[in-house]
Amino acid sequence: MQRVEKEIARLIQEIDYDEVTKLFSTLSGGKRLRAKLILKIAPNHKDAPLLAAIVELIHGASLLHDDVIDDAMTRRGVVSVNASSGSKIAVMLGDILYSKAFTELVAFDKDVAQTVASSVTALSKGEMMDVKMAETFNSDEKLYLDMLYLKTATLIEAAAKASALLVGKDAEKHALYGRNLGLSFQIIDDILDITASEEVLGKPAMNDFVEGKCTLPYIYLYEELNTEDKERFVSFHAKEISKDDTLWIKEKMQEHKTIEKSFELAQKLSNEAQAAMSEDAELVLILETMIKRTF
Ligand code: FPP
Ligand code: MG
Repeated sequence: MQRVEKEIARLIQEIDYDEVTKLFSTLSGGKRLRAKLILKIAPNHKDAPLLAAIVELIHGASLLHDDVIDDAMTRRGVVSVNASSGSKIAVMLGDILYSKAFTELVAFDKDVAQTVASSVTALSKGEMMDVKMAETFNSDEKLYLDMLYLKTATLIEAAAKASALLVGKDAEKHALYGRNLGLSFQIIDDILDITASEEVLGKPAMNDFVEGKCTLPYIYLYEELNTEDKERFVSFHAKEISKDDTLWIKEKMQEHKTIEKSFELAQKLSNEAQAAMSEDAELVLILETMIKRTF
């Protein structure tokens, strides 16, 4: 991973703007899941660290924009750029990072470059769907999973597929692995938003629903409630609600096992990915660690 951090630092240096270098140094790198995946799939390819750096810059850019869109005050446990320096700077830093990433990407083989580039259109479409869907109460599971795939899984899918292409491994198998890893990762994230504590999350618990996001445990709950409870539940959508009402939602989720049901889908997707990659112990381990994570 040190090779990736070195590449990222080099690319930032090449941007040649002190403001960017300074701001970038305040960001937390996060889990670097996408970079780790690329290095695991193409460990000996000379361009793997650069590809990993490109994907991490794109991911970082998308989070900068996402925090502006979501009005988020923190990111990865530190103050977000929009909170510390304002939305204009956060948007522009995002633009600089992802255009730099694309400048580097064009030097790769066409199939690799296209795989990563097209995933960025998909992730932007997903983010827009997410914004639109949060305007009303969404109880459509398929629509929700389609959005999740676009918003979170496509870049992970692209990272896995592009690195497989780089070393001549089975691109489709790796794409499926990345897709399912991404989807189950996000479902676990949705679950943790409900089950983890504020300290662990670094943001208020059950924040998704307050932001209007009906994640899987909420969609499954809606399906189970009677008409009267459905009405009550929908009335809580996209607003700050009292402790009692929060408790009511949590109790209903327990009663109808909607967290368990969501976890089962994450597990099923993870099992499919595992089956596609059964010969690669390290990739299987990433899946297992992700499914068991508590933050
Ligand atoms: C986090 O979602 C957001 C994403 C994974 C994708 C955001 C994508 C864009 C803003 C498109 C623009 C792309 C570029 C490259 C500039 P979340 O809000 O559900 O998760 P969070 O809790 O981590 O904020
Ligand atoms: Mg967000």
